[in-house]
Amino acid sequence: MRTKLFYPNKELWADAAINSMDEYHRLQDFAKNDYEGFWDSFAKEKITWRKPYTKVLDDSNMPFVRWFEGGELNVSEQCIDRHLNDKADKIAIIFQGEKGDIQKITYKQLSIHVNKTANLLRDHFGITKGDRIVMYMPMIPEAAYVMLACARIGAIHSIVFGGFSADAIHSRVLDAKAKLIITADGAFRRGKPYFLKPTVDEALAKGECDFVEKVLVVKRNYEDINMVAGRDEIYNDLIDTMSDKCEAEIMQSEDPLFLLYTSGSTGKPKGVLHSQAGYILWAQMTMEWVFDIKDSDIYWCTADVGWITGHTYIIYGPLASGATTVMFEGVPTYPDAGRWWKMVEELKITQFYTSPTAIRMLHKVGDNEPDNYDLSSLRILGSVGEPINPEAWEWYYNKVGRGNCPIVDTWWQTETGGHMISPLPGATPIQTSCATLPVPGIMAEVMDKDGTPTAIGEKGLLCITRPWPAMIRGVWGDDERFKKAYFGECKKDGKPVYFSGDGAMVDEKGYITITGRTDDVINVSGHRIGSAEVEASIGNAPMVAESAVVGQPHPIKGESLCAFIILNLKEHAGYEEMALEINSIIKKEIGAFAKCDRFIFVPGLPKTRSGKIMRRLLRSISVGEEIIQDISTLEDPSVVEEIIKATKEQS
Ligand code: PRX
Repeated sequence: MRTKLFYPNKELWADAAINSMDEYHRLQDFAKNDYEGFWDSFAKEKITWRKPYTKVLDDSNMPFVRWFEGGELNVSEQCIDRHLNDKADKIAIIFQGEKGDIQKITYKQLSIHVNKTANLLRDHFGITKGDRIVMYMPMIPEAAYVMLACARIGAIHSIVFGGFSADAIHSRVLDAKAKLIITADGAFRRGKPYFLKPTVDEALAKGECDFVEKVLVVKRNYEDINMVAGRDEIYNDLIDTMSDKCEAEIMQSEDPLFLLYTSGSTGKPKGVLHSQAGYILWAQMTMEWVFDIKDSDIYWCTADVGWITGHTYIIYGPLASGATTVMFEGVPTYPDAGRWWKMVEELKITQFYTSPTAIRMLHKVGDNEPDNYDLSSLRILGSVGEPINPEAWEWYYNKVGRGNCPIVDTWWQTETGGHMISPLPGATPIQTSCATLPVPGIMAEVMDKDGTPTAIGEKGLLCITRPWPAMIRGVWGDDERFKKAYFGECKKDGKPVYFSGDGAMVDEKGYITITGRTDDVINVSGHRIGSAEVEASIGNAPMVAESAVVGQPHPIKGESLCAFIILNLKEHAGYEEMALEINSIIKKEIGAFAKCDRFIFVPGLPKTRSGKIMRRLLRSISVGEEIIQDISTLEDPSVVEEIIKATKEQS
């Protein structure tokens, strides 16, 4: 089958950072032939070093790599101070509140806010280099101030997405041994205030966290909240008296910058650790290459700061590039399905970066809505977090981009820090629903476990065969898990390489199409959910003996969760009632976004003789597919018929 390619208009893209495939290949060949030289040239050019590094890459102790050893810098200086000479009055952040309130914060003002916040953390709360701070915050400028203030004083932030429950906050606070928690009273959603602080109270009430000294609360919705005397303090009351000059901590290249917990296929979420220099370098380089960021651009990424996309592409990347970045508090469909397009028109957005789930939702509720707005400011459209299906891609390309804006379908992960595979808008001919080629410098390969490249058109494992500067540096407190989870599966030339957990296919042009996770991670609305975590939570329902959770296709969310449940009681409530009860447990222990859309109560689960549940089989059954898997390895093959029967009866 011939696939249609959309070529960049040469004239339009003449000034792009990478403006031809020749330039792309020149850069990628440079990296292939002289890997360290490649990174050295960009690290020297892009980073304002306090002290130059002496070694580009030390990979003698894989997978524990060290980039830019000997170098000293401060990420908040990279994101703010170095712009103050020529961009002090440029808008750094445009904040658009749910109710339409707008704040435009210049680089000079950002510097003042961040310095004051850094002084508050350092002087008032006694936070020092290496301390962990858990943030549970809405999308408000103070979230950016706190992140950058942490970077300024060398504290390690660990943001917990606002949709997570008290239990989830508790386990993350415990794992990171955070000294301080920063939250807000709440914020606004769908025209109404909602709360965050009570969830932090609930988390701390679970106990075992005496190391948490204080809770700092930013006022956003000004609703009444409970304050614990001696523990809780209000940001807004303290910040004014702080000095706006805070000496930046000198950081080593490899000092930790932040932690971000993410789900894997087994066990509890992992604290993904990122370090200073390599991360900020790649955040900035990909802003320039993938988003072609220019001084006059108004760039908007709709993610939440609670996810990696928000870290790298709302805060660190845009600010390191001296760009204007938009932060939005609300949801895409309130007050109506034109909300985002209205913002694009009013703010004259040039790059718009969102998730396939949001695109599908906006397509569904407002197919023609983009026609009502002037979207001519848009230059580049981005997609992230999950595979974008052809229907959504085409609507995005034609309706939103009016056929004039390349879609950069960016494949990457919490662990990769920044984009890994993506079209470059001025160079790469794009193809529907395809992430295309590795970004220059990234050695992405589709292969089998032993490193043999997968044949064209065949599914293989997506690996990164050389360490890159923004890569995960470890799993907080668990080196063994780090090695096993990412470097335990695939080898090239006999040496362990990074395996992403994703499958992929390469075509004759070398274009890579992501085929989805090969492990038990499920991607619901771009949120990464480990089936083991959900099963552990379901197991806490009194009537459940055992469960298996799989992903099933969903028209908007991409995938949704389907739970197969074995009951431990002969006498039990009705199916619907039990489903509600189990979902309320999931909501309490993880968060509402991890609730299951479907429950199938079954007499048994398909287990191999070694006790492993054959989830692929369950996935096929859940969608009514013909069973083509070999079930002879099952302990009890007859269970398959029974599961199929129960599924049909309960559909
Ligand atoms: O399965 C891939 C999917 O999202 C996973 C990473 O999730 P997370 O760490 O939460 O980071 C999401 C934002 C970077 C990947 O393993 N994924 C991410 N981008 C794409 C994607 N799947 C298909 N196409 C993409 N562009």
